[in-house]
Parts: sequence; structure tokens; C-alpha cells
Amino acid sequence: MKHLLKLEDLSKNEILEILNIADQLKYERQHGIEHPILKGKKLGMIFQKSSTRTRVSFEVGIYELGGYGLFLSNRDLQIGRGEPVQDTARVLSRYLDAIMIRTYEQKEVEDFAKYGSIPVINALTDYCHPCQVLADLMTIREYKGTFDGLKVCFIGDGNNMANSIIVGSLKLGMKVSIASPKGYEVCDHIKEFANNYPGMFEMTNDPLVAAKNADVIFTDVWASMGDEAEIDERKKIFAGVYQVNDEIMAVANKDCMVQHCLPAHRGEEITEEVFEAHAEEIFDEAENRLHAQQAVMVMLMKNK
Ligand code: CP
Ligand code: NVA
Repeated sequence: MKHLLKLEDLSKNEILEILNIADQLKYERQHGIEHPILKGKKLGMIFQKSSTRTRVSFEVGIYELGGYGLFLSNRDLQIGRGEPVQDTARVLSRYLDAIMIRTYEQKEVEDFAKYGSIPVINALTDYCHPCQVLADLMTIREYKGTFDGLKVCFIGDGNNMANSIIVGSLKLGMKVSIASPKGYEVCDHIKEFANNYPGMFEMTNDPLVAAKNADVIFTDVWASMGDEAEIDERKKIFAGVYQVNDEIMAVANKDCMVQHCLPAHRGEEITEEVFEAHAEEIFDEAENRLHAQQAVMVMLMKNK
């Protein structure tokens, strides 16, 4: 594994290896055992979009591993004034041991990896959110003890979260069912990926169909970062239907988990009641960002 650009690039065994390292690092942190595995390594963190969890978990994560994280805002970097990715990638490769990027186009992270000579970690693009879904998979295994025989459901926009949930869950052998409004379904590329898993993937416009007998229900905001101008139009289409509420939970399995990458919009994609009833799982999920990303950094940076 040279980069983390999207989950499609990882084998099932590589994902499991990340999750196993993450479990070990979590155990060590909980027991006060320090793990400066990346002593002296430098991680650049480019943010072209807002962030709470990703920013803090990566910065704390590299610090706890004995390394140093540099927060690089689009407002300050020359990339924000049009310096090409090809040049930025080659320059930063001379200073840093790895680079983490949150941006819009998937092509930008792929280009960083192509032109630079250090590992690149995708910390969210419009296309996918692999770091988040590694943490989600870790949380599912913590609560359920296994991936075997589980059904994962996603209700909402066929966005970056939906894409990574579908890829990660199918790779680990879980069934996936997704309910999105017409016109907001996942892209053809993801549908083609899912076609490689016959009988394991279902797409519908009806959340009650998708949630039936689910073991894990995911949702995400109706309008992602970059879609803000569409929020009023999207509200009209999503409201009242594409929401994780008691009615949805009633058709899922009895001990069904709820996961949300956060930030959440209570009263929109999830009700206050369902959110608070599953808050422990959701905040464990947020915590696991730290452990999962530390595992990714260890895998990518240890032998650099
Ligand atoms: N879930 C997530 O990526 O959160 P932030 O946008 O706060 O980083
Ligand atoms: N789909 C959301 C996820 C935020 C973590 C967005 O892209 O804004």
C-alpha cells in the first residue's frame, strides 16, 4: 500500500490489517502505553474545505506517533492562487514524509500521488471519504464482533460517504442497501463496482425497503460541502422521506447500530431521538477516526 486515495485501491487484507493495527493502537492509548512509531516524521495537512474531526484527529494522531503535523490552509498556500498541483506535490515531497489532503476533485489527490514522491492520504473529496469509512468499519467490528452476515444500509444522498461505505462494506463481505432520491443516486462507477458483488448490493428510492433487517444504518447530510447553493432545492426533495427516524429503525434488526460521520443536522437526515439513542456508537465512531488514521499513517510512513 503506497497511498490511501480510495478504498477501491485496497485489498480486503490491507483493510483488515489497518483495522487490526487501529485496534492495537486504541488499546495502547487506553492503557497509557505510548507508541512513538513515527518519531520525527512530518505530515502535511492540506485543507481546502472545513473540518473539525479530520483536522484534530490527524494532528493529534501524528503527534502521538512521535511525528509532527503541519496544518496547511488553502487560503495561505500558493495552490489557492493557482500554483499547479504537479509543482506543489513535487515541492512538498522534498520537505515532508506524507501528505493528507481534503479537497473537491478526486483527480487532485490522484495527481498529488502521481507527481509527488511521498504517500498521499485522501481526507475527503467529493468522490469519497476513505478515512471515515475505515473508522466506521472499525466501529462496526467493535460492536458486532464480526462483518460476516451483516447488512449495512445507507439512507440519503449518493455522495462521498455513500460511495466509500459501499466499497468498504462489500470488500469486507457485508451486504449493502442504499436508498437515495431519484437523481441523487450513486454514480455509475460505484454501480459498476457493486456489480462485481452479485446478490450483495441493492439500490432503491425507498428508505423502508433499504432499512429492512439492517444491522447498521448510516446517513449523512442532504447537502455536502460544495453543495450549499442547492440546499433549498435538496430540502424539498429529501425532507420527510430520507431521514433516519423511529419508523426506519422499526423495520431494521432489533440491535441495529446507527452511524453518522458528523456533522449531523438533527431534524433533517436524522431525528434528535434516534441520534441521541445511538450517540454512544456515533461518538465511538468519531473517536475511531484517530485510531484508524494512526494505523493508516503507520502503514504508509513507517518504512519511508
Ligand atoms: N466526519 C468528518 O470528516 O468530519 P470533519 O468534516 O469535521 O472533519
Ligand atoms: N458528505 C459530507 C461529509 C462530511 C464529513 C460532506 O462532504 O460535506
